[in-house]
Amino acid sequence: MEASFQRHRRLRTTAGMRKLVRETELRASDFIYPIFVTEEENVKSEVPSMPGVYQLSLDRLKEEMEEVASLGIQSVIVFGVPEHKDDVGSGAYHDHGIVQKAIAQIKQDFPELVVIADTCLCEYTDHGHCGLVENGEILNDESLVLLAKTAVSQARAGADIIAPSNMMDGFVAAIREALDQEGFTNVPIMSYAVKYASAFYGPFRDAAGSSPQFGDRKTYQMDYANRREALREAKSDVEEGADVLIVKPTLSYLDIVREVKNEFNLPVVGYNVSGEYAMVKAAAQNGWIEEKALVLEMLTSMKRAGADLIITYFAKDAAKWISE
Ligand code: PBG
Repeated sequence: MEASFQRHRRLRTTAGMRKLVRETELRASDFIYPIFVTEEENVKSEVPSMPGVYQLSLDRLKEEMEEVASLGIQSVIVFGVPEHKDDVGSGAYHDHGIVQKAIAQIKQDFPELVVIADTCLCEYTDHGHCGLVENGEILNDESLVLLAKTAVSQARAGADIIAPSNMMDGFVAAIREALDQEGFTNVPIMSYAVKYASAFYGPFRDAAGSSPQFGDRKTYQMDYANRREALREAKSDVEEGADVLIVKPTLSYLDIVREVKNEFNLPVVGYNVSGEYAMVKAAAQNGWIEEKALVLEMLTSMKRAGADLIITYFAKDAAKWISE
């Protein structure tokens, strides 16, 4: 027979051959595990729309962190579920706020774990928006002051990385300046540079109790139809001093992950968000998909698209699976 075509299948003949030419490999240290900390006591309460994900009180945090660390996961991102909310989100920048306490505790028990603080107001405001509100409008510059305050209080509590997710313009510059002024010049900013207004955040808002009480987030989070705008958003964050760039969500935005990866020379993070998790869990519980295979395929696709790191609720499961 004439060799008029390529035999691609030669490199797929055995498991060993396939492993040899595999281009993308997941590691437990690729994952950042999100945790939700509540102010009550002795709470480990499963989020109904996120099976396997829990709101944890401070006294139940250590057991969870022990599991995370034992699996080889090197980093967590911390979200607070405060008891008290007000119109200025004061719980976000209180020196003894729930996130500040959680960060300090984790760093004390697990000094080698990289602890990331999500810097936003929406979990702490009674209106549920990520900034200050006046006559139904979400204020930009006034909100920056509070976000900078929040970042400083989180760094003071021991946060290794500040991850601002609020999407106000200028938030990286405002936070960088405030951190530097307070002596935190070595604390990096992992910016939610490209964050879309997405229906994929639904379950998270249950977990964190952070649904907007009026309107939506479309005046600050991006329109999912836009690609070039993502590059503008990322560019300004890079210019303002971001050290790491997050694209969020990830699954429906792999093209954006790749664009950001190609355009900038900073580490890129994909946030595999709550809705992406919930869909998989629901289908798995119905026996409609094979969870392990599907999750590893999804996470690998994110890395293949260009994500250096992945924030994912699957971190613990995936770390177990890849070590098997
Ligand atoms: C806070 C924040 C949100 C998420 C992470 N940080 C919610 C939002 O913007 O409404 C969503 C994460 C997820 O869905 O897993 N601004």
